[in-house]
Amino acid sequence: MVQVAVVGSGQMGSGIAQVLATNTDKEVFLYDISAAAVSQARDSITASLRKLTDKGKLPKERVDRAMGQLQFVTDLPALQRSVFFIEAIVENAAAKTELFQELDRIAEPQAIFASNTSSIPISTLAKATKRPEKVIGMHFMNPVPLMSLVEVIRSPQTSDDTYNTTCTLAKEMGKETVCSKDVAGFIVNRILMPMINEAFFVLHDGIATAADIDQAMKLGTNQPMGPLALADLVGLDTCLFILEVLYRDLKDPKFRPCPLLQQLVNDGFYGRKSGRGVFHYER
Ligand SMILES: NC(=O)c1ccc[n+]([C@@H]2O[C@H](COP(=O)([O-])OP(=O)(O)OC[C@H]3O[C@@H](n4cnc5c(N)ncnc54)[C@H](O)[C@@H]3O)[C@@H](O)[C@H]2O)c1
Repeated sequence: MVQVAVVGSGQMGSGIAQVLATNTDKEVFLYDISAAAVSQARDSITASLRKLTDKGKLPKERVDRAMGQLQFVTDLPALQRSVFFIEAIVENAAAKTELFQELDRIAEPQAIFASNTSSIPISTLAKATKRPEKVIGMHFMNPVPLMSLVEVIRSPQTSDDTYNTTCTLAKEMGKETVCSKDVAGFIVNRILMPMINEAFFVLHDGIATAADIDQAMKLGTNQPMGPLALADLVGLDTCLFILEVLYRDLKDPKFRPCPLLQQLVNDGFYGRKSGRGVFHYER
């Protein structure tokens, strides 16, 4: 069986591994440096697949087969045979660069490295390897099993072969692809984050309550969830980080993060994952 690796088993990595296992016939190695994260990923994938079976969306046999295709590991050399790596570790340029250097040492020379980064230039990660033409961005949306888009990001060095193989894999996973240049925010976050930021300014300026801002955008613009609830889902820390990158790299004041967003993050209100963001969540 062809082996693929997902590196980082947090909310995005576990979703990516789940979709690879259910929609392709590949052997999927899900790796994390944290044993607790790997164990949590196994639990969350099991629970998510059970829910899909209960709702009649995925036959039980397919779920059993998917679980058989998945390997949960904490040793990097176990990934050696993988032909395609999807990196989804913490959004930190130094950590990702170091990881790409390590992967470059252990992986076969023909293996492709895709990063799920929201903001770090693909060319920076490519430079950390001896295979820059095989490095690409593969930006999944959250939650991965439900969202059909993958933004594929080409750096100036990414080869046509790497691009075509990546789009083929995304399609096998049941996703639609769009192509973006390697510029901060790509397509989705370049447009989405200013809207989320503006929702925080509307709240900050006392124009409306959080519930009314979200209700207005849901009913007034046909969005399935309001911008503030969406920010809580993405993670307020992640939203702030992406806005800071947009503001720094594109040097346009329209990306200046709202002080209220900064305040919430400083106070440890990260959204759903911490039980409290703009809204409260049962944990
Ligand atoms: N959260 C979103 O909505 C979203 C959407 C699209 C893309 N992304 C991107 O996906 C990536 C992961 O985000 P997430 O929300 O899943 O984060 P997360 O915090 O849920 O998971 C990150 C995981 O990386 C692991 N990790 C850290 N350093 C590692 C290393 N050196 N080797 C292996 N594992 C390591 C951590 O233990 C953790 O389990 C980030 O680059 C983020 O920008 C996030």
